[in-house]
Amino acid sequence: MPNIATLTLNPTIDTAYEVDHVVPTHKMRTLKEHYDPGGGGINVARVFVRLGGNARCYYLSGGATGVALDGLLDLHQLVRCKIPIAGETRVSSSVYERSTGKEYRVVPSGPTIAPDEWQACLDQLTEAQCEYLVASGSLPPGVPDDFYAKVSAITAKRGIKFVLDSSGRGLKEGLAGGNIYLAKPSLGELRQLTGLPLTDDAAVVDVTMDMIERKQAELIAVTMGHEGALLVTRAGTTRLPALPIEAQSAVGAGDSFVAGMVFALASGHDPKEAFRYGIAAGSAAVLTPGTDLARPADIERLLLQVSSV
Ligand SMILES: Nc1ncnc2c1ncn2[C@@H]1O[C@H](COP(=O)(O)OP(=O)(O)OP(=O)(O)O)[C@@H](O)[C@H]1O
Ligand SMILES: [Mg+2]
Repeated sequence: MPNIATLTLNPTIDTAYEVDHVVPTHKMRTLKEHYDPGGGGINVARVFVRLGGNARCYYLSGGATGVALDGLLDLHQLVRCKIPIAGETRVSSSVYERSTGKEYRVVPSGPTIAPDEWQACLDQLTEAQCEYLVASGSLPPGVPDDFYAKVSAITAKRGIKFVLDSSGRGLKEGLAGGNIYLAKPSLGELRQLTGLPLTDDAAVVDVTMDMIERKQAELIAVTMGHEGALLVTRAGTTRLPALPIEAQSAVGAGDSFVAGMVFALASGHDPKEAFRYGIAAGSAAVLTPGTDLARPADIERLLLQVSSV
């Protein structure tokens, strides 16, 4: 059974509400409410387990909300590896307005992490037993810019394949540290990273091939929302369009993409075939409303529609 670990430095309790109308002042009575454990790495682990794999979750957690997060994780058959922190785990909210179909999302920046806390996280990772380590999500305040580079130094030493899906300073300094097996920036993240407009595939291939040549990453999957994705490896590039589906909510598409692609890689598929799984899983997430992640039956069905590469 494929076996991975995921790392979530800034997890969250995702609360989702549905109301008829968003209005000021008056109480908005909810028609539906839902609580999920969230944050990049946790979302990846949840989809990975649904697909039939094993996932160990390394995550920082603190305060009373941290206890609630631990409890929510226990409902999802995930192996928990908690790194305790003094700060309070954040709570994110999304409100779906039925009358307009609009979604409002409130996402706090998360607690400040002390040096001994992020160091304790690195110490735990030096003991991780897995074939792949997937780090996904933003760096919370207090965590140094090169944290993911410190992680990739650990995974490189231990022969673990490191997968990175981050943005801003986490992505920039993570790539600079090298030793990444798979990086998954979205096109927007890649534009921010390079400061270039990247208006066509050729420009995207140029900058990513350069990163591969500098040994920053072995595989780079650039996802482009409804325009699909591009896989760049030393052996060449593969372009796949997105599947023509009726989009409900793009929330969780990137995490589901990563889970699907890594599940296929960890099951022995080659990168191109695994890339097809990623596309199917990303599209499957878009089919589900709100913060729901990809469902295995949708992934399997959609995989048949992704062209062979
Ligand atoms: N509207 C859509 N229709 C079909 N497939 C989609 C759509 N949006 C996303 N996908 C699928 O999900 C994948 C990942 O989506 P996306 O590029 O938006 O990543 P993301 O990480 O969620 O983005 P970001 O982190 O910038 O918000 C896409 O490559 C595509 O396969
Ligand atoms: Mg993303």
